[in-house]
Amino acid sequence: MIQKAKGTYDVFGDYGKRLLYIEELIEGLMEKYNYEYFRTPIFESSNLFHRGVGETTDIVTKETYDFKDRGNRDMTLRPEGTAGIVRSYIENKMYGNHTVPVKAWYYGPMFRYERPQSGRFREFYQFGVEVFGCDDAQADAEVISISVNLFKLLGLKGIKVNINTLGDSESRNLYRNALIDYFKPHIDELCEDCKERFLKNPLRILDCKVDKNNPIMKDAPKTVDYLNETSKNHFEKVKSYLTAMGIEYKIDTNLVRGLDYYTHTVFEVEASVEGFGSQNVLCGGGRYDNLVETLDGPKTSGVGFALGMERLMTALEYEKVELPIIQGIDCYIIPMSKNQKEYSLNLAMDLRLNGFITEIDYNNRNLKNNFKNADRLNTKFIIIIGEEEVATDIITLKDNNSKEEYKLKKEELIDFFDKSIIE
Ligand code: HAM
Repeated sequence: MIQKAKGTYDVFGDYGKRLLYIEELIEGLMEKYNYEYFRTPIFESSNLFHRGVGETTDIVTKETYDFKDRGNRDMTLRPEGTAGIVRSYIENKMYGNHTVPVKAWYYGPMFRYERPQSGRFREFYQFGVEVFGCDDAQADAEVISISVNLFKLLGLKGIKVNINTLGDSESRNLYRNALIDYFKPHIDELCEDCKERFLKNPLRILDCKVDKNNPIMKDAPKTVDYLNETSKNHFEKVKSYLTAMGIEYKIDTNLVRGLDYYTHTVFEVEASVEGFGSQNVLCGGGRYDNLVETLDGPKTSGVGFALGMERLMTALEYEKVELPIIQGIDCYIIPMSKNQKEYSLNLAMDLRLNGFITEIDYNNRNLKNNFKNADRLNTKFIIIIGEEEVATDIITLKDNNSKEEYKLKKEELIDFFDKSIIE
């Protein structure tokens, strides 16, 4: 038997219903924030991700799905959404013909060749947003508010917003040098990955899972001590806007994030649900004021985040959040014999077009089995179509709960359902 690839999963049943409910909620939320829906290709030229995400990141060095297409071009399955959206923003010259800022949202599968474990998949779905062309801290606070509002709408309570700042390029460089000076005498005490990071990206040492409890981490320099005035002001404003919107947050000075493109604000939202496990970061993001330029666009600021759908689904499960998904169907049609199939199909067509969830017997089952099936599907009304119904257009329907029976003219049916099903 052929099995699914490691780190992937199938969606069906109630999980699928919950997922669709959340996707619709996201769509509605993005409408309220007036964000524009973007969809970019699932594969792009490898160069985009190498330059966009960063050559030294774990994602690019260890996790991308790279392949050569039949034209011998280097292609990569997207490991995240930001680089593709930035590419699209530049390629479609949105800096020229769009009103500023451009506010994008996207949803779709991402691919990372990671060691599969709870909360880590090789194909996973992200909902993300990116805002281009707004330098003001208002945009940082707004994107954070989107994730918080989504969790609120879903009724997820145990969430924590952690924020930090890396400052602008000048502050970030100062900080980078301070980290190099600090870790240099301790290099032998670091894990193998961090020895690599020391040379390529010392900031990443701070969020190392292996060296997390190493005592040298405690006294490592903090970003906040290396910020210039502009960077300090920006961070102060982010905090003040978050407070104004009633969003609680914690400052985590070790938060640096795993992608290279960040400047100023970085943030993560974690689920603090008992037993959730270590992969509890539901979403992460931040500002990236140099990325558009790095990818050959004009100097344009950007800020955004992405949320992992699988982790969100797990958090909802752990918190036992009930989502208002539709369980059951409105109507189940039983043709008494094959002779009533056409009439029944016509009726089903009418009911479905008028918005009623309608099932029909497919297998010419006997009445008893059809009733059983209707119960299993949690049916509100059952309609039985026999010779008489076809001849007279008078339809008998049964309320499957009260077992009460009604006789109606065919043309009265929709009106009856409108009154009794839609409150
Ligand atoms: P990221 O932190 O790499 O950021 O991913 C964002 C979220 O995607 C994570 O917090 C997590 O919930 C989910 N995620 C990441 N990897 C996996 C995985 N292997 N399995 C399941 N879920 C996963 C980004 O991707 C940035 N593009 C975010 C961003 C947008 N920054 C600015 N704009």
